Amino acid sequence: MSDTSNASPFTGGLFIKTYGCQMNEYDSDRMAKLLEKTYGLEAVEMPEQADMLILNTCSVREKAQEKVFDELGRWKKWKAEKPNRVIAVGGCVASQEGEEIRKRSPVVDVIFGPQTLHRLPAMIDEALSMRAEAAQDKKFKKRAVIDISFPEIEKFDNLAAPESNGVSAFVSVMEGCSKYCTFCVVPYTRGEEFSRPFADVMAEIETLAEQGVREVNLLGQNVNAYRGVMPDGEIADLAVLIHAVRAVEGIDRIRYTTSHPNEMTQSLIDCYAEVPELVSHLHLPIQSGADRVLAMMKRNHMAIEYKATIRKIKKLRPNLSLSGDFIIGFPGETCDDFKETLALVKELNYDRSFSFIYSPRPGTPAASLPDDVEMHTKKRRLQALQDLLNEQTAAISKSMEGSVQRVLVESLSRNSTTEVSGRTENNRVVNFEGSPELIGQFVDVEIIEAYANSLKGKLVATPEAKKFAQRQYYAV
Ligand code: SAM
Ligand code: F3S
Repeated sequence: MSDTSNASPFTGGLFIKTYGCQMNEYDSDRMAKLLEKTYGLEAVEMPEQADMLILNTCSVREKAQEKVFDELGRWKKWKAEKPNRVIAVGGCVASQEGEEIRKRSPVVDVIFGPQTLHRLPAMIDEALSMRAEAAQDKKFKKRAVIDISFPEIEKFDNLAAPESNGVSAFVSVMEGCSKYCTFCVVPYTRGEEFSRPFADVMAEIETLAEQGVREVNLLGQNVNAYRGVMPDGEIADLAVLIHAVRAVEGIDRIRYTTSHPNEMTQSLIDCYAEVPELVSHLHLPIQSGADRVLAMMKRNHMAIEYKATIRKIKKLRPNLSLSGDFIIGFPGETCDDFKETLALVKELNYDRSFSFIYSPRPGTPAASLPDDVEMHTKKRRLQALQDLLNEQTAAISKSMEGSVQRVLVESLSRNSTTEVSGRTENNRVVNFEGSPELIGQFVDVEIIEAYANSLKGKLVATPEAKKFAQRQYYAV
């Protein structure tokens, strides 16, 4: 790794464009911290202000590859203006298309995968020394530095110690996926499931708690497949980890995402009875309500098993808010299959879910299936599903009016200087009159009105709230 005591070769800032999932957001955050520590690069809002431009890509859906080349075409202009800029491409497209990027985009200096982002400083240094050599020796042909290998644990070990950005933090506990659903590229771009050792995860959470974090969101492509080695050699699953996290002083709310239905073990379900800190909110993708489609997708479970899991959790937490992911127009999906998806959605009453049109991913088994569903049919089905999901989400928000919610206050409100903003267990933003001193506290808030993307609330007159109100001269 570069020596921070050396003068930085960069005078401008760092611009990272992130596509895709929470894992990518998390990775971008870690890259930013690493590059700030190594080169003193500070994040800037516009690419033209940057000396280093990074594209953190996602290839789960759409013509991700083309998007990357389009963006690089635009960035070429910035580089022509200031040739000592460094352009790097990371993430899943880099992992899949590394050599292609090197061939098609000579403007790119560094290509790294999701598992090699910790090696960025070394790769950047190598790119800079190649650039210096090319300037001296006209015959020397500079090429992009490329490392898209899967060195597993090395990434976790080499990233900067966590620093909290607020009262809620993501903690990556595992990487990759070994489920190989027929439509999905993740196992090929991020590698097989790999869990961080239990003690490392706990040390990170303890540090975050000392820095004032009150809520952790345990993160993984298949987070409930977590199997971390404990110091005594035993294996901790996600349930064991959740129990340990609840014991950390200061951590009073626990979330986890994203999960696979087949990893909802009894001990994880029991956590909903045993761990009050675990939120009554679960994101559990099902993709389709039709067993025929689930089998073609190689999800390895049937709709009835998924429903049974939800039923068990709802027995323990009747107010559970459930969200999911759905894929519409998988090859061979019939009108009846789609109706089964709609029926399942109606039955389970989903909250704020994600739905996508099936997108063939190069190298996946489903990509070679004949895709016999017309695009206009896929679009019509997606619209029908999204209308239903939106209706359900709006009804859940509306039903929260008049209820009292436990809210973690996260920040000042964006809209008013006298309001603060927090989140409910089901992840809705609530704005309400309150003192900035409430930031980092859990408070009871009565929901006054539900809007499309947030809720308006009123602090409930608990003795704590009254104490703050007296100091700040507002009424509760
Ligand atoms: N671990 C999760 C699970 O159990 O399903 C999935 C994580 S995956 C990266 C995120 C979501 O992207 C999936 O749930 C799926 O809905 C969507 N997705 C993945 N591949 C897709 C494809 N080829 N076309 C459309 N959507 C896709
Ligand atoms: Fe993808 Fe299926 Fe894993 S959707 S991330 S292969 S569980």
